Amino acid sequence: MAAALISIRTEGDKIEIVNQLLLPHITEYIPIDSVEEAHDAIKTMKIRGAPAIASLASLSFSQCFTRALRQNPLPDYFASPEALKAHVQPILDYLYTARPTAVNLGNATRRLTKKLEDLSAVTQDTRAIVKDLIVEGKLIADEDVGRNKAMAKWGGDWLINRVQPSSPKTLNVLTVCNTGSLATSGYGTALGLITYLHEVGQLDKAYFTQTTPYHQGSRLTALELKTLQIPNVMICDTMVGSLFQHYPIHAVAVGADRIAKNGDTANKIGTYNAAVLAARHNIPFIVVAPISTVDLDTESGAQIPIEQRPPLEACLVRGVVYPSENGKVEQAQVMITPTDLEGIYNPSFDVTPADLITAIVTEKGVAVKKEGEKTFDLTPIV
Ligand code: MRU
Repeated sequence: MAAALISIRTEGDKIEIVNQLLLPHITEYIPIDSVEEAHDAIKTMKIRGAPAIASLASLSFSQCFTRALRQNPLPDYFASPEALKAHVQPILDYLYTARPTAVNLGNATRRLTKKLEDLSAVTQDTRAIVKDLIVEGKLIADEDVGRNKAMAKWGGDWLINRVQPSSPKTLNVLTVCNTGSLATSGYGTALGLITYLHEVGQLDKAYFTQTTPYHQGSRLTALELKTLQIPNVMICDTMVGSLFQHYPIHAVAVGADRIAKNGDTANKIGTYNAAVLAARHNIPFIVVAPISTVDLDTESGAQIPIEQRPPLEACLVRGVVYPSENGKVEQAQVMITPTDLEGIYNPSFDVTPADLITAIVTEKGVAVKKEGEKTFDLTPIV
């Protein structure tokens, strides 16, 4: 299998991310040298995808303190655990503000806060505390790949067992947005499930929506599937119903930015449309996400904060000039609306109610609803 794309590269205390705003035509790695640069890269979507932004935030946190440890003398906040906490917490709070919907980011910053609290309770040695925090930050990024492979297998095997007794063919699976290596530290969530089906010879084709207005599907998922040599078909967001009417689609698999306690799931805008249509066509609808995406403190989807992106982003299409007159790849943004359009609704995510979801998959396993119930009990998989 061809090598997957990498969203974050690290070497020592160096961090580089691929600028996803320029993909698929230009592959440019940009250095991240501070928490401010990490915050900006997340906010402007140079890096995106719930697990990937949590990974970058944690890595930039570790980088910041790796560099602090090298200073001689050490910065004043090393004077006591209290001084350290007073310095660290605003940094974590700041990273958390980069994007509001993906709970992985909040889980990562809360995990670092808790680690700091726990360590401060047992030692006054701030140098040792910082060293442990650095390890924890790196761990948050590193543990992502392994759990993605686990959930891809759980979900893939579950789907094969569910579909194949009645339809013993290879499977067609539709996905939305980009949930692959670019959206995670590697392998992906829903795209990981699709990759797994391909690896075990059970995938016919991966279908994916363009996912306007940011085109994570046509720019990023297309590139990942092409790189992995997985047979694929792109559809416009408006074509999901037509696809279900005319092609045998065996499942819809999507990622998630936040899963509420009852199973309601926030994911890329357009996911809810696909879920409604999947229910209409009796197609299993599967959410694949790590435990860090499950938010047991949020009772239902109604409480999930939905990020509103700048209106202008819905008026622009990003791409390259084609054909380019000078033969060079030229990045361009084209306005596709009148310049003075006033009413623009541009939520980045929507919420799919639990009753439209057939299964939720984490690295711990697969949850389905009990007969006759409309919500999930997620306890067995978190
Ligand atoms: O706005 P984005 O591109 O960050 O949205 C990404 C998604 O909605 C993904 O489906 C989700 O984060 C899961 S990624 C494994």
